[in-house]
Amino acid sequence: MCGIVGYVGPRVVTPLLIEGLKRLEYRGYDSAGIAVMNGKGVETRKVAGKISRLETVVKDSPLTGTLGIAHTRWATHGAPNQVNAHPHLDEKHEIAVVHNGIIENASVLRRTLEEHGHVFTSDTDTEVLVHLIEAAFEDSLEDAVIDALRQVEGAYGIAVVSSRDPNKIVAARKGSPLLVGLGDGEYYVASDASAILAHTREVVYMHDGDLAVLDRHGYRIIDLNSTTLTRGVSKIDWDLAQIERGGFAHFMLKEIFEQPQTVSSTIAGRLLLDQATAKLSGTNLTEEELLAIDNVVITACGTSWHSGLIGEHMLEELARIPVEVEYASEFRYRNPIVTERTLCIVISQSGETADTLAAMREAQRRGARTLGIVNVVGSTIAREAAAGIYLHAGPEIGVASTKAFTSQVVALALLTLKLGRLREVSALRGTEIIEALQALPSQIQQILDRHHEIEALAEEFKRAQNFLYLGRGYNFPTALEGALKLKEISYIHAEGYPAAEMKHGPIALIDELMPVVFIAPHDSVFDKVASNVQEVKARNGRVIAITSREEPSLAGKIDYEFRIPETIDMLTPVLAAIPLQLLAYYIAVKRGSNVDQPRNLAKSVTVE
Ligand code: AGP
Ligand code: GLU
Repeated sequence: MCGIVGYVGPRVVTPLLIEGLKRLEYRGYDSAGIAVMNGKGVETRKVAGKISRLETVVKDSPLTGTLGIAHTRWATHGAPNQVNAHPHLDEKHEIAVVHNGIIENASVLRRTLEEHGHVFTSDTDTEVLVHLIEAAFEDSLEDAVIDALRQVEGAYGIAVVSSRDPNKIVAARKGSPLLVGLGDGEYYVASDASAILAHTREVVYMHDGDLAVLDRHGYRIIDLNSTTLTRGVSKIDWDLAQIERGGFAHFMLKEIFEQPQTVSSTIAGRLLLDQATAKLSGTNLTEEELLAIDNVVITACGTSWHSGLIGEHMLEELARIPVEVEYASEFRYRNPIVTERTLCIVISQSGETADTLAAMREAQRRGARTLGIVNVVGSTIAREAAAGIYLHAGPEIGVASTKAFTSQVVALALLTLKLGRLREVSALRGTEIIEALQALPSQIQQILDRHHEIEALAEEFKRAQNFLYLGRGYNFPTALEGALKLKEISYIHAEGYPAAEMKHGPIALIDELMPVVFIAPHDSVFDKVASNVQEVKARNGRVIAITSREEPSLAGKIDYEFRIPETIDMLTPVLAAIPLQLLAYYIAVKRGSNVDQPRNLAKSVTVE
């Protein structure tokens, strides 16, 4: 998920690579490292933490050479410490690999390699690559890399160097961005143009399945059959500030648009099609232990609490386990009923939220098993929870959480599938859930492709002073999340409510100035929501509806409609959240707010 930069040419490589890594710093990362060909062999330096630390280490213990690769890591497998930082080396320190992405079949490959005598030093999935390359090495680095890549499943952007074929860098891409930068007698490889833009604007974007072989004299693009490919040269005409956000005006918008990929990373390698279930290797619980769970308590804050409410609904409906969802800040000071047969699910993007951490520790003190659903690998909650499901959504930098929310819902759906299949869910239903999960990335993309419609809606409503968000069933929490997004970044007062509960109070607020956003996909409670729409319209409210098909019962009752694709009920919040995120974003931008760093808020609330 993070950054790669490599260089071959006449210049001293270390400062160029450090500078390139610094350009990638904005993406968020947890550790960094560099490998340089020093004329004798491969030499590396690695640190946990900031690039400035790597810079100091390199200053104290210099690396000299004119060919090298470097990496910023955002851990997915293994804690973010020095050992797990890239580059990874083979036993003889002849080959170094940096990798972005996830090797999904790493544990199987690792076992086989270990049986053949390979000794692993890190917990990463990446390390299998270097051992596979070593095992395949005859005389050409690219041939060995091709051999290794034929055995791996998953996503990668990699760069590899070796003292056994010392004058080249071999790079490869599948599902994780990579480009070759063309200089004058010098060549670069980078995961993001910003790393090399200070030196060249001419780049060749690699396609999935491409390998690049670079040396001082030129570059070649080949495929996994070693056939040479022709790829056009592009000229970058953006400025640095722009590409750091990938061309998006804000991190929040970039993260909203990343959701097709982040949702698919959360799912990647976790579906067992033949058994119609999910594989969650981090849950650490045997089937017997999972069956012995009496009840589930979910604890979290903010957006993560909203996904918890959706999880409650899923787990109760399909796994038939009683679930309670608690604000972490409330849970920690109550006298909650938690036993050894309670599974306490702790949801946190950052894994560092103080209230959530304290709630988890309280549950552990009372004997509950804890399961963290966390995005940031190696964070405190991830480390202290007895078991875990990582989101693999990549760094979330915008303060308003977007991609973490959709990945949390997907992770909870995977857990529900697994627990449900152990209990009452049939193979047929399991398959239906799997198919719906697999369809999500392209459905999200279809919604994103229509972002202009939401932008126009935002223009219409940017001066509103209040907003109501209403939904039922799975989409009551979506209403809460939609309202929270708007509040956080536009500073408009917004409330989320269960649609039917409106008539017990908030209906008093409705007049011709009040925008009411209904989350009304065609699910099992649609007809009920439709009646609530009528109630609002009867009082002249302005109805914005997120629907999923043409509904005659709503004809003439909706002022603005946005249609999302259809999915199974439990996954409707994933799709419905996207237009709500976009609406909040565009309204906030039009009101001139600082979208990425809204007033008074912090990305990670590490105080009580
Ligand atoms: C979401 O947009 C918020 N900024 C906030 O509610 C956040 O979800 C909450 O602070 C919990 O954070 P966590 O997921 O990192 O624990
Ligand atoms: N999966 C790899 C790891 O955990 C690479 C992570 C990244 O993309 O930075 O080390």
